[in-house]
Amino acid sequence: MKNLREMQESDIDKIVAIIDSHDEDDAEEAEAGYRQMGGTYDNYVYEVNGEAIGVTGFAIPPACEHTYWLSWTYIDDEQTNKGHGRKMLNELIAHIKDVGGRKLFVKVSDYVDPEDGAIYAAALHLYKSLGFEVELSHKHFYDQGETQIILGLRLKDKEDLIIEEDECNIQFDGVFEIAETDDAYSFSWHDEGEYPLEAEDVKVGINAVRNDGARAIFLSFPSNMINIKDPLLQSGFSNAGKLKDYYDDGIDENHYSLYR
Ligand SMILES: CC(C)(COP(=O)(O)OP(=O)(O)OC[C@H]1O[C@@H](n2cnc3c(N)ncnc32)[C@H](O)[C@@H]1OP(=O)(O)O)[C@@H](O)C(=O)NCCC(=O)NCCS
Repeated sequence: MKNLREMQESDIDKIVAIIDSHDEDDAEEAEAGYRQMGGTYDNYVYEVNGEAIGVTGFAIPPACEHTYWLSWTYIDDEQTNKGHGRKMLNELIAHIKDVGGRKLFVKVSDYVDPEDGAIYAAALHLYKSLGFEVELSHKHFYDQGETQIILGLRLKDKEDLIIEEDECNIQFDGVFEIAETDDAYSFSWHDEGEYPLEAEDVKVGINAVRNDGARAIFLSFPSNMINIKDPLLQSGFSNAGKLKDYYDDGIDENHYSLYR
């Protein structure tokens, strides 16, 4: 890598200041993540003439084949619109390709700040111009009126794999508020239940988070798990789109949403 180098713990203060030059809340969230054990791992500092002016990186989701998510990606506010963001992302994408990446995803909000306007508009423009395509939009995700847009980029040609259907019995085992959202919830689950999921099981989860003040619930499952869709739709969830080839080529991530 040319201008990117691995982020160290000693970079945290500088990088948090770069993020803070755009958004105080993101800076706080990012700092909490960086300060966890191993929190700077897979993050990269972008340097120009020896000075750190940006950060980017990736995270690898579990149970997927060479799938990557872009993590906190910022260029110091004083240095934007000079082509640094494009160079930084091109370097990172080349690196992810080198290490075998198959698909790269990124989440963006459509938040419009009363003073600064659409603060992620440049990012959205940049991602699209690098070849990312919008795959999913969750309305009212982060908060009422604030959409989450997920874009995906293929890094390798698609393989024609034979996908087996999976009739597993999933069981919900917890509810949680989704990070970075106000009152949007999801359920955790495992796939060793004793019987197939039923609408009644889903309703238990819905009632639990409604009692906690949930504004919306978002769930997602691999597309080859074939006995999940019906009970979700019967209990009031709607199809909310999919992330194509998320788990592997031919296995999408199907998304479902339910609003209060
Ligand atoms: C996104 C970001 C990293 C880009 O860095 P950068 O150094 O400004 O990037 P570049 O100069 O290479 O490119 C910026 C592009 O956005 C365009 N742009 C700038 N402001 C824009 C706006 N308000 N609406 C649409 N496009 C805009 C520029 O014209 C340029 O596009 P071009 O190369 O086609 O002309 C930087 O703006 C940033 O840190 N933003 C805030 C954080 C953020 O949104 N992070 C991503 C969250 S997922």
